Amino acid sequence: MTGLSVLVLGSGGREHALALALARDPAVAAVHVAPGNPGTWAMTPDRGLTARLAGLDPCNGPAVTALARELGADLTVVGPEAPLVAGVADQLRAGGLACFGPSAAAARLEGSKSFAKQVMAAAGVPTADFRRCDTLDEVAAALDQFGPPHVVKQDGLAAGKGVAVTSDRDEALAHARDRLPVVVEEYLDGPEVSLFAITDGATAVPLPPAQDFKRARDGDQGPNTGGLGAYCPLPWAPAGLVSQTMERVVAPTLAEMARRGTPFAGLLYVGLALTARGLRVVEFNARFGDPETAAILPLLDTGLGTVLLAAATGRLDRLGPLSWKPGFCVTVVVADRGYPDRPLIGGPIREQTPVGLIFHPGDQVHVVHAGTALDAQGGLTAAGGRVLGVVGRGPDLAQARQRAYAAADRIDFPGGRCRRDIAQRAAEGLIPPVERL
Ligand code: AMP
Ligand code: GLY
Repeated sequence: MTGLSVLVLGSGGREHALALALARDPAVAAVHVAPGNPGTWAMTPDRGLTARLAGLDPCNGPAVTALARELGADLTVVGPEAPLVAGVADQLRAGGLACFGPSAAAARLEGSKSFAKQVMAAAGVPTADFRRCDTLDEVAAALDQFGPPHVVKQDGLAAGKGVAVTSDRDEALAHARDRLPVVVEEYLDGPEVSLFAITDGATAVPLPPAQDFKRARDGDQGPNTGGLGAYCPLPWAPAGLVSQTMERVVAPTLAEMARRGTPFAGLLYVGLALTARGLRVVEFNARFGDPETAAILPLLDTGLGTVLLAAATGRLDRLGPLSWKPGFCVTVVVADRGYPDRPLIGGPIREQTPVGLIFHPGDQVHVVHAGTALDAQGGLTAAGGRVLGVVGRGPDLAQARQRAYAAADRIDFPGGRCRRDIAQRAAEGLIPPVERL
C-alpha cells in the first residue's frame, strides 16, 4: 500500500477526532474533512483546498462523490447520521468508491425509533417495552400504562433533541404534541453505556465501552443534549459486558438486518442501560457517537484507516483483534452558555493558551473542535451548541479528568461553560456494582 487517502464527511468534534486518529495511522497518507471546521482545516493548511472542502454539503450525494473522486480518496468515512439516512453511502458505493457507513436502508436503525424496535423484537434483543403513538390520545394511554418517569421519543431524526425523560405528565404530553408520531416507552434505570461495534455486515469488532453525559447540568439534571462529556474505558464495567453485548445485541441485530436483505455495515452504536433486570438497549445509532469518539480513539493502537477500510470492503474477518493503549481518556465538552435551549451564536475564543492548545494535539491533552468558526480576521469564534471537546489522557481516570479540566479552564471563552462532573463518580469509585447483565 502506498498510503491511503481518506475523506471524512462532517464538521463536528466526532469528525475532528476521527481525522486525528486517521492521521496517526502509518498506512494513511492524507486525511481531508469536508466541510470540516477550523480544527480540521488546520490539519491541512491549504487555503484553496479548505475552501473547496468547506463548501461541501455532506447530504449532497453527487457532490460528495465528485469530491471523493477529485481527492482520489481510497475511503470515505461518513461521520453524521443525516447523510447516511439520505443515502450518501449508497451513492458513493454505486459510484465504485469505498465508503465506511451503512446504506440508507440500514441507517434506519437510527433514523426511525420504531423501525429499530421492530428489528430488536424480531432479533430477540432486550430493550424497553414501547408503544408507537400517532395521536395524543394514544400517547396519554401509553403514558398511563407505563407510569412515571415518562419517556417520549420523536420517531425520526432529531439531532439529540427528540427525547424527553420527565415525571411531569403534562410535559411529556407537550413534548409529544409537536413531534407526532412518537414512541412512548418504559423507563430504564441504571448506568448507561455506549458500546460501538465496527462491522462489515458479517464480522463485528467491539471498541471499549464509554460513558456519555447527556444531561445539560451537573448531577444529570436539566434537559437532554447531544452529550456534554465522555470517558473511556469504564473501570466499573462488569466482566462480560462487551462479550454479552456482542452476543445478545450486536450479532442478532446484524443477522436480522442481513436476513432482511439490508445488511448493516459501518459503526453500530449500541446505547445500553444496565438495569437491575439486566442489560437493555436504549437506542441504536448508525455512526460513531459524539463526544464518545474523542474519548475512545486516542486509545486505539491499531491504525484506524486500515480498520475502517477493511470494514468498508468486507474484509474485517482477516484483521486480527484491535490493540489498545493502556490508560483512560476523559472528554469535557465546552458548550455555549445557552445550549441546548437557547443556543447563542458567536463569541470569541482566545488562543492565548500557553501550549497552543487549540490547534496542536499533544499526548496528554488536546482539543477537538465541534462548533467553531473563523471570523473575518481569522480569529476563532463559537458557532454555537457544543463548541470544543477537551480531551485529557492519563494512567487513571482521576488524572485524565484533572488534565482535561485544567486545559478547559485555560481556554478563554467567556460565552462557554462545561459540566464539572464528567467521569467524577467513576473516578471516585462511586458507581454501584452491576448485579447482573
Ligand atoms: P436516545 O436518543 O434514545 O438515546 O435517548 C437519549 C437519552 O434519553 C438516552 O441516552 C437516555 O439518557 C435517555 N433515555 C432514552 N430512553 C430512555 C429510557 N427508556 N429510560 C430512561 N432513559 C432513557
Ligand atoms: N453521544 C450521543 C450520540 O452520539 O448520539
